[in-house]
Amino acid sequence: QKKVTILDVMARKTVGPKITMLTSYDYPFALLVDQAGIDMILVGDSLGMAVLGYEDTVSVTMDEMIHHVKAVTGVAKNALVVGDMPFGSYNVSVEKAIENANRFMKEGRADCVKLEGGKTMVPVIEAIVKSGTPVQGHIGLTPQTASALGGFKVQGKSAGAAQALIDDAKALEAAGCFSIVLEAIPSPIAKMVTDAVSIPTIGIGAGADCDGQVLVIHDMVGLFDRFTPKFVKQYAKISDTISSALAEFKADVEKGTFPEEKHGFTMKADELEKLKE
Ligand code: KIV
Ligand code: NA
Repeated sequence: QKKVTILDVMARKTVGPKITMLTSYDYPFALLVDQAGIDMILVGDSLGMAVLGYEDTVSVTMDEMIHHVKAVTGVAKNALVVGDMPFGSYNVSVEKAIENANRFMKEGRADCVKLEGGKTMVPVIEAIVKSGTPVQGHIGLTPQTASALGGFKVQGKSAGAAQALIDDAKALEAAGCFSIVLEAIPSPIAKMVTDAVSIPTIGIGAGADCDGQVLVIHDMVGLFDRFTPKFVKQYAKISDTISSALAEFKADVEKGTFPEEKHGFTMKADELEKLKE
């Protein structure tokens, strides 16, 4: 297997198969995802909720993102690694946005960045792309600006809002995005958006007609269920496996059944004898 490139991802819109993307935030998950042949690893700012225990993603910092991107890029040999630009890192000025995209590339060793927003983000996207960093767009439900959207709600439900999403997607393509994440929009609208652009769409809560699918890994393996959105399919429930291991450890130690002799170290009998003399 060889490293997935931006051009590979773009080509998949026409040649297939559908694109797979999962998040990872650390070495062990990134290793598993990379070995599974998943096309892209998103080091999402979902880091804040899935790993750092924050209420939302807004307070995630650049330093926190870089710290985790490094852990992932150190191990991802095949998957394309996407660094998710956190709130405040690209909405201040075009210069700041380029500076922070550069940090993802130089310090994080990411392959590209993702940022949220439609038409209004076009100048920022154009500037980052021109500066040499590929950009993945993200429209529909944009968690960083959920407050401005009136909460975590499905987007594009009216004809007007749906048309705005199609216009946003076209604007992002023209600005130079290599793909677009579509989050929490009606499936028929996701299909219309997908048909309206020649770059691949990666859906999360956007139906089966997108060019690819993305999920938060902690949600899909059942490690984290503080929120389990309707669009998540839980392929495993590893929290149960971990919980029973923890309970067994506690019981073993309390009963004295762990450690066993085989878990311990021995020494030469004569050395032990010397001590007794
Ligand atoms: O941060 C994240 O995990 C994301 C995905 C849900 C697309 O942005
Ligand atoms: Na995100």
